[in-house]
Amino acid sequence: MLVSAKEMLQKAKAGHYAVGQFNINNLEWTKCILLTAQECNSPVILGVSEGAGKYMCGYKTIVGMVNGMLEELNITVPVAIHLDHGSYEGCLKCIEAGFSSIMFDGSHYPIEENVAKTSELVKICAEKGMSLEAEVGAIGGEEDGVTGKGECADPNECKAIADLGVDMLAAGIGNIHGKYPENWAGLSFETLDAIQQLTGDMPLVLHGGSGIPEEMIKEAIDLGVAKINVNTECQLSFAAATREYIEAGKDLQGKGYDPRKLLAPGCEAIKATVKEKMELFGSINKA
Ligand code: 13P
Repeated sequence: MLVSAKEMLQKAKAGHYAVGQFNINNLEWTKCILLTAQECNSPVILGVSEGAGKYMCGYKTIVGMVNGMLEELNITVPVAIHLDHGSYEGCLKCIEAGFSSIMFDGSHYPIEENVAKTSELVKICAEKGMSLEAEVGAIGGEEDGVTGKGECADPNECKAIADLGVDMLAAGIGNIHGKYPENWAGLSFETLDAIQQLTGDMPLVLHGGSGIPEEMIKEAIDLGVAKINVNTECQLSFAAATREYIEAGKDLQGKGYDPRKLLAPGCEAIKATVKEKMELFGSINKA
């Protein structure tokens, strides 16, 4: 069932667990994540970055694909399609295309501009019954050349954005997208605690969920994180399983070159990763 992420995240925050956002890259990814969510009876958020949106032939194609799968696969758990790190223009496009949730990433703007643009989107999303995620304190990544520590958000700026009426808030707490470097300083629980004290019931979002040690994930959930984004770990498990298949020469045996066979081990690997995360986040049987 396609829904906004509002209710599932409010329930998660109150129930001290987190809902996973798993980024989709193609049909296989989407199918594997939906089937695993259904099997685990877990709510789920399908994340779509602007780049992945272009790759998958646009937001309308994605909405059509997801709606088709929900029906054909009999998916009854709550599912949100969510724009990940959207620009203002990207948000407007996804609203029009029929997404149920968007993230406006205004973290690179001065706080006044982030507030102004986020406020506009709060109004539109409320009218459409969609959920909105905002971001304070940029979350770095390898592509930005960040090593060591990700940025930490200013808790007062977090409160200013949370008070605008967004449904969830991503705040930098030392997290980074992609693989964590050897010298990563870890999550700043001090920052997270200060943010949650000021933002109360607001579901907080942890980006860069791949590769964070389990104890840190659990502590983050204890301190108010209700949504955790995972992309890289699914990509790594898909790539490793595909490599193993090809290195074993299986594509050369019989019809092993058939994409439905060639991609099958990678698909199973994604399913296992998603299930593992749902168990860790505590969202199993919370649909
Ligand atoms: P990872 O790729 O590090 O899991 O991060 C995903 C993410 O935060 C998407 O917004």
